[in-house]
Amino acid sequence: MSKKEIKSVDYGLEKIFEGAQDFLPLLGTDYIEFYVGNAKQAAHFYKTAFGFQSHAYRGLETGSKDSVSYVLTQDKIKLVLTTPLNSTSPINDHIVKHGDGVKVIALWVEDARKAYEETTSRGAKSYMEPTVMSDEQGEVVRAGIYTYGETVHLFVERKNYKGTFLPGFQKWESAYNPPSAGLKYIDHMVGNVGWNQMDIWVKWYEDVMGFENFLSFDDKQIHTEYSALMSKVMSNGNGRIKFPINEPAKAAKRSQIEEYLDFYEGAGVQHIAVATDDIIKTVSQLKANGVEFLSTPPAAYYKSVPGRLQEFSHELGEDIEKLMALGIMIDADEEGYLLQIFTKPIEDRPTLFFEVIQRMGARGFGAGNFKALFESIEREQAKRGTL
Ligand code: FE2
Repeated sequence: MSKKEIKSVDYGLEKIFEGAQDFLPLLGTDYIEFYVGNAKQAAHFYKTAFGFQSHAYRGLETGSKDSVSYVLTQDKIKLVLTTPLNSTSPINDHIVKHGDGVKVIALWVEDARKAYEETTSRGAKSYMEPTVMSDEQGEVVRAGIYTYGETVHLFVERKNYKGTFLPGFQKWESAYNPPSAGLKYIDHMVGNVGWNQMDIWVKWYEDVMGFENFLSFDDKQIHTEYSALMSKVMSNGNGRIKFPINEPAKAAKRSQIEEYLDFYEGAGVQHIAVATDDIIKTVSQLKANGVEFLSTPPAAYYKSVPGRLQEFSHELGEDIEKLMALGIMIDADEEGYLLQIFTKPIEDRPTLFFEVIQRMGARGFGAGNFKALFESIEREQAKRGTL
């Protein structure tokens, strides 16, 4: 991305946050729920590999006969892993079609009924009408709407609840408690949608959710020798929720977005970016735990980093040799820089992956790294025979 473009982006942010519509105030991400084939094993993976902590549980022992859910936390991040307990559960259909993947992006709100009314009256398709769950610790109100593919947003109102996670869950006491990896909160979550669908979903987030499009990248900016994609970043008014939306673009070979759509069999969540404030420590730990990351960019990439930072008069606070040894990438804009790295897909289907990000002032998404990143993904696609 050129310096000039970043200026307009920076300027745009202030404008947008002033003008953002507040009919849907969002306090933050509440939780992310995955539908998976074997939640017990997935929970072990997220604890062992990513440093998540046991938090809450619902299953046969708590009276849940159809499905089992494990809730894991790390600082502000909450993941829910859900598996059906019989063949009649509709959750099976999701898993058969998509493999393991994100079903629910739950958003924390003050008033779930109002959030549901505001969004459905603006054209959102209902997933779940406002529903009250209660136990002796109080009550939680949830309501839901569909977004792209079979993915849903649930609005969660928990101001009258003091219990662990949600009514129906019990505290998950485990003797196995690996240390945290320093992951703090969800920075952004990216959705992949089909050909010519990006602008439709951009408009949907604007009209239905009151979000603003504050950054756009076209296929001239995001391409390599072989493949291309387009991306637009949507943000809510207070900037806590950021959803970039990607669609594939025509190029000589198959875009990674197309590969995702083929294997996920439709639109869905492509990656979850989690923030840390010490990426060297976090990534060292994740690697030691067996998390697999995309290959390190070539040495020439790291030679160009000081120049990129100088262009914006930023000084790198980290040891560049350490960043290179771990394969962590660096991008800069006028406000600061960011450090980021991407895992390989975390399922056998090449679909969902994670990003670890440390922001040192920059509010972008690593556009300066797109080329190096995509070349790395293409090397993996070539191995899979899907490029
Ligand atoms: Fe990202």
